Amino acid sequence: MKKASLRGIQMAYDVEGSGPAVVLLHGFPFNRSMWSEQVAALSDAYRVITPDLRGFGQTSAAPEQQEQPATMREMAEDVAALLDELDIERFALGGLSMGGYVALAFYRSFPLRVRALILADTRPQSDTDEARENRERQARQATSEGMEGIAEAMLPKMLSPATIKERKEVVERLRAMMTGTDPHAAAAALRGMAERPDHTYLLARILAPTLIMVGSEDQVTPLTDAQVMQREIRGSRLEVIEGAGHVSNMERPSEFNHVLRDFLDALQP
Ligand code: MLT
Repeated sequence: MKKASLRGIQMAYDVEGSGPAVVLLHGFPFNRSMWSEQVAALSDAYRVITPDLRGFGQTSAAPEQQEQPATMREMAEDVAALLDELDIERFALGGLSMGGYVALAFYRSFPLRVRALILADTRPQSDTDEARENRERQARQATSEGMEGIAEAMLPKMLSPATIKERKEVVERLRAMMTGTDPHAAAAALRGMAERPDHTYLLARILAPTLIMVGSEDQVTPLTDAQVMQREIRGSRLEVIEGAGHVSNMERPSEFNHVLRDFLDALQP
């Protein structure tokens, strides 16, 4: 693990391999370790960079962040600063779920830095009023009771029934990531997600080659969201990961890695 001091935080990240840079952004409330299978599958030919977003994993939250939203834009700016620090101008950028919200925010601010975009189990729309209220409830629950209750409520919605039944180690890895997340950072990210702008308008402006992936049983950001992105992003490719729920990269890593590798290998240098 490495750390970079930037924008008032200590950002933890891993870098593995050499070759064209690929940056992968984790979902909520996870951390960079969710990408371990992808790092293993890509690092023979790519320089794979996996940061912990602000407040998650081993990255600190800004001291004044406690009750403030951690916005997707701030997280995108952290990623830009990290890549500046590593002296990498252009790279393939991927994100799952909240990581996808951050990837879209990144594209909006720094389109020329994005060589290719990978949007996994995510959506371009902002939250509905009901979703916002729910996030505020969860943020309060996190800070008053900790992450256990949130983890128990989220796990069955996040994973496919097959994963829950047959892949106990995946369930346990996710549970550990969720309960290990700092409740204040989780609350800040929940409030940041609640105020994220709608990025549907941006889709038609995306010029980077784009891969969209979604678990066939994703209930959080379902196939219909992925189809909106495919329709709007010119030339984009949509791949459905059969049998996976919302955390498709961990639930079906070999299928996910195969699609991702195939997409990256086909990019023009
Ligand atoms: C995630 O997996 O990052 C979250 O489920 C995203 C969300 O709550 O919208």
